[in-house]
Amino acid sequence: MKLLIEKINNEGIVLSSSVLKVDSFLNHQIDPQLMHEIGKEFASRFEDCGITKILTIESSGIAPAVMTGLQLNVPVVFARKRKSLTLVNNLYTASVYSFTKEETSEISVSNQYISENDKVLIMDDFLANGQAALGLVEIAEKAKANIAGIGIVIEKGFQDGGSLLREKGYRVESLTTISALENGTVSFEKNTFSKKVELTR
Ligand code: G4P
Repeated sequence: MKLLIEKINNEGIVLSSSVLKVDSFLNHQIDPQLMHEIGKEFASRFEDCGITKILTIESSGIAPAVMTGLQLNVPVVFARKRKSLTLVNNLYTASVYSFTKEETSEISVSNQYISENDKVLIMDDFLANGQAALGLVEIAEKAKANIAGIGIVIEKGFQDGGSLLREKGYRVESLTTISALENGTVSFEKNTFSKKVELTR
């Protein structure tokens, strides 16, 4: 997605050979216009899939997910990373290990908001090692929902998440894929569109 690549080139800060800081438009301050375009792009890629719900994880997955939900006219549910005072019973949960933070967290979604009647689009801002996406897959599977695919704003192609999810048969659509973060420079892969794989899971 051209606009996103321009934004990363103009505002992204390479913190190390594995971490890109995009706080000015995605992870702290949010650019609504860019999110709107991102929502339209995901909606066009998944418009024929019969999506009934978008499943994401707090916090940075929420903005692109809401814009996509607006375009597809479906609700958005986000997995919580912290225990909620009001959300204690009837939860689907999954353990997510973060290689970046070296910690495991339990994520949860109420069984009120996802069911076997749903066809979900899983979304997140970054795809690194794929653990957050796999946690969301696990929650969707526990709810016996159908998974239409996984939408990612920025995939880091040099980490394992993308291949892990694609090898499991999921359709992963990333709006941009970074091939390397070297010498303060971001290199992009020419995005390959994944095959439209219909899953029965
Ligand atoms: P994984 O889910 O793909 O395995 O990723 P990982 O555990 O490594 O990521 C932990 C957190 O770091 C996630 O956000 C993820 O989005 C973010 N992250 C991973 N790589 C990068 C990167 O290169 N740049 C930036 N900016 N973020 C990255 P989080 O802690 O859940 O934060 P948030 O969603 O609350 O903002």
